[in-house]
Amino acid sequence: MRSHYCADLITADEGTSIAISGWVHRRRDLGGLIFLQVRDRSGIVQVTVEPDQGEVFDAADQLRSEFVVRVEGTIRKRPDNMINKDMPTGEIEIVAQSIECLNKSETPAILVDGHEDVSEETRLKYRYLDLRRPEMTNKFVFRTRVTQSLRRYLDDQGFLDMETPILTKATPEGARDYLVPSRTHKSAFFALPQSPQLFKQLLMMSGFDRYYQVVRCFRDEDLRADRQPEFTQLDIETSFMDEEGIMGMMENMIRKVFKDLLNVELANPFPRMPYSEAMEKYGSDKPDLRVDMPIHTVDDLVKDVDFKVFSGPANDEKGRVGVLNLKGGAEKVSRKKIDEYTKFVGVYGAKGLAFIKVNDRSAGLDGLQSPIVKFLSAEVAEQLLERVGAETGDILFFGSDDSRVVADALGALRLKLANEFELMSDDWKPLWVVDFPMFEKEDGQLHALHHPFTSPKELDPEALKANPTGTLSRAYDMVLNGCEVGGGSIRIHNTELQQTIFDILGIGEQEARDKFGFLLDALKYGCPPHGGIAFGLDRLVMLMVGADSIRDVITFPKTTTASCPLTEAPAKVSEQQLTELGIAIRESKKAAEE
Ligand code: AMO
Ligand code: AMP
Repeated sequence: MRSHYCADLITADEGTSIAISGWVHRRRDLGGLIFLQVRDRSGIVQVTVEPDQGEVFDAADQLRSEFVVRVEGTIRKRPDNMINKDMPTGEIEIVAQSIECLNKSETPAILVDGHEDVSEETRLKYRYLDLRRPEMTNKFVFRTRVTQSLRRYLDDQGFLDMETPILTKATPEGARDYLVPSRTHKSAFFALPQSPQLFKQLLMMSGFDRYYQVVRCFRDEDLRADRQPEFTQLDIETSFMDEEGIMGMMENMIRKVFKDLLNVELANPFPRMPYSEAMEKYGSDKPDLRVDMPIHTVDDLVKDVDFKVFSGPANDEKGRVGVLNLKGGAEKVSRKKIDEYTKFVGVYGAKGLAFIKVNDRSAGLDGLQSPIVKFLSAEVAEQLLERVGAETGDILFFGSDDSRVVADALGALRLKLANEFELMSDDWKPLWVVDFPMFEKEDGQLHALHHPFTSPKELDPEALKANPTGTLSRAYDMVLNGCEVGGGSIRIHNTELQQTIFDILGIGEQEARDKFGFLLDALKYGCPPHGGIAFGLDRLVMLMVGADSIRDVITFPKTTTASCPLTEAPAKVSEQQLTELGIAIRESKKAAEE
């Protein structure tokens, strides 16, 4: 039904006969002359219809926005004064010889050609219209080019594209599972995979050596701009490669996709940063290196000051006093702003936000404006200013608390200030975060920081058990502009070590057998050393297209309450289905009362 996509007509010669099919993007009636903008997935082109064209004119006259049309015509160069520089095809137009209306449309609920603000709820309810907007269409065309480039790289490196089950058993990645009741095994449930982690390890044990999959993963967790309950991973596993080999190959892949699609040369190699340094300097395990504002530690300088708020944490092994220096901020940050920032860091548990305005760096204590300056000697003040590189006009913000609170609070404030005062460079800043602790303690309970199949650096079971929180793992995360785009590790390939890790996590032998018996068994039959990584494909594409949320690069995403306004999922099911599944719905007391 067509000879060309609309956008391809840029290169068509004057006089060429063509046929296009698409939607009426816009129709303008200029005193008898009708201009139609016709849109398909490639772009938009203008069709001109003159009043003396009889039937063709009548057909054009009947068209409205979003009608589906087929147009035959010839290409004409526009006169100079009619060239539209904002439109890729703006130098040409189509002189219509026939116009066929293939389908009508009601007035669309979302104006496809409009820039009006439509609520996200409406956009998702009418997602099929939202996706017609060229801005959205382009993101998805881009997305397939990203996957093509990634696949091509992995295919060239000898990776096999293999599938793994969706109806499966719990795969622990730290979120809640989505469960699917079984009809044939009453009171038993499948879990949707949080990742294909265990299956890809089993494929290594089967000898496939290099695996990848573009795969949907499911996690029932609190949603944010970069999290969806179902999302796509580029999931990868290899045998007989160590972390150097894997990280090197994965960097090459990401460099290639940036070069292919954006013509951007990323750093080579990517810098590496130990987790401890990331937490200390940036207050985050995914530092955004576009912002040149580290958190300075000043514990040693304020140990003896007569201000408990500082001296307490400075003398406590678990505490810390950290400082951010907002260059040139003294005049820009009002008292009201400071109150707002104090409230902001409060969300992260900070009990206050002391500040110093450096009004005159050469005037000693007299040049400083701050409620805490009275607690500082001239000598300590000088050392402090020196440590954080303070100059006249700067403002310093202090966090003094448990180290974790200081990291969270100042890490978040750092990004907030960078956004507010436009301190983000517009570079691409990839890095690897490495040397993660194997375990972290939360509410007295040990958790695997990555997942429990990650190999620790310490292999001796006794040493591991003696000091689990002091053990590092062989995990690595790829971070880009403050976003964790991928994470992986070298895995455990031996049953005893795997059991030791389960023991440390408080997963007893019986529980380990119930949950992961198949893995423990498989490890006994000649498991190769192996490791891998998974990239968040949605996040990668989000960054590459400059979107604010992964919802913009997922065709039919869920809302922040994990529902779909288009299909109205999740939905109630019939009594009969429940009976077949052997399920009775327990009304909560409150719901019953209502
Ligand atoms: P991890 O849990 O770090 O590792 O996930 C890998 C990557 O997936 C992306 N991601 C998400 N994207 C959108 N929405 C979510 N809810 C979401 N959760 C994670 C992130 C993250 O870096 N099996 C391991 C990988 C491995 O060890 O090989 C895993 O799943 O970009
Ligand atoms: P106060 O002595 O409580 O009035 O606090 C004096 C200054 O220290 C105020 O600017 C507070 O915001 C700040 N402050 C209080 N607690 C902390 C803390 N834990 N970390 C950083 N600053 C704090």
